[in-house]
Amino acid sequence: MAFFAPEIGIDLGTSNTVVYVRGRGVVISEPTMVVIASDNKRNVRAVGDEAKFLMGRTSEALTLVRPIKNGSIADFDLTEMLLRYFIRKAIGVSHVVKPKIVISVPAGLPAVNRKAVTEAAQVAGAKTVYLIEKPFAAAIGSGLPVYEPIGSMVVDVGGGTTDVAIVSLGGIVVAQSVQVGGSKMDEAIINYIKREFNMLIGDRTAEDVKIDLATAMPLAEGRAVRIRGRDLLSPQAMDIEFTSAQAYEAIKEPCRAIIAAIKWVLERTPPELAADIMRGGIHLTGGGAQLFAMDQFIATELGIPVAIAKEPEDCTIMGLGYLVENMQLLTSIGRNGLTAGE
Ligand SMILES: Nc1ncnc2c1ncn2[C@@H]1O[C@H](COP(=O)(O)OP(=O)(O)O)[C@@H](O)[C@H]1O
Ligand SMILES: [Mg+2]
Repeated sequence: MAFFAPEIGIDLGTSNTVVYVRGRGVVISEPTMVVIASDNKRNVRAVGDEAKFLMGRTSEALTLVRPIKNGSIADFDLTEMLLRYFIRKAIGVSHVVKPKIVISVPAGLPAVNRKAVTEAAQVAGAKTVYLIEKPFAAAIGSGLPVYEPIGSMVVDVGGGTTDVAIVSLGGIVVAQSVQVGGSKMDEAIINYIKREFNMLIGDRTAEDVKIDLATAMPLAEGRAVRIRGRDLLSPQAMDIEFTSAQAYEAIKEPCRAIIAAIKWVLERTPPELAADIMRGGIHLTGGGAQLFAMDQFIATELGIPVAIAKEPEDCTIMGLGYLVENMQLLTSIGRNGLTAGE
């Protein structure tokens, strides 16, 4: 039995929740999903990997919920339950001392939403909660010199949000979080197929198609896949051939919105730091960084070099992990990097 407070980092993403325990590293990485009984929200039937397994297989008796939407809490009770489940899974129930938890949130999340995250973690069993802005954690996790007097730029393309930030001297200088990410691309593919083919496909198929086929820039050599879905004009299943050119068309708009967010931040970047960014380039993190040609697209649109971080979807948790291993940094981070709730 431990008498010290365990220290945990949690990347509470719209798509995935990742948990880091001090001294042990990443111990959990599962989808941010809960399956509940349709007639009783308190009756949680599956969480994380188990919930994802049930996705698309649920009957009317079960409902799949993503408690985090667009980077903030959409369902407080289910977020609390999900956190409680993951905390127990990470450190067990034997700890008599409640854990200190470092959680990432979208940049510039409004105070009321930040408070909700803090409270959900406290109700789920945290002793102290530290909130870290996601792009700051991602910058640490991608190995950028965030504590030095050098400007670095991070663009984290997650499931629900894209977080863009300039970091320097241990804090965020300018940041923007827009509600555009991988899920919007999935939705755009669903809508395109509905419009052009009168066919309905599920979220899971849309995500698979995006990962397999979609691209941020037109390809010289296109590819195609067959997709199965439900005919909207007759009560039957049907299938279509879907090309990478169509996938490109479908996700064009969300990709443009990401460019707009980056421009917004660049326009507000102090000139000295802007010079650093032109030199050091943009660092892409988050699962969406792996969208085909995303790096090339941003570099072409903005004329700035772009590098995809190593293991981009792990950058946030590795940054939180670094802070968890060096808790003294949490008291010295600049105003923008942190808020703590006792
Ligand atoms: N190879 C890929 N190409 C395009 N998108 C991807 C790829 N791999 C993962 N993604 C997308 O990245 C998103 C999840 O990224 P992640 O950083 O884990 O999100 P969050 O932190 O918001 O939970 C999902 O929308 C997923 O579909
Ligand atoms: Mg992420």
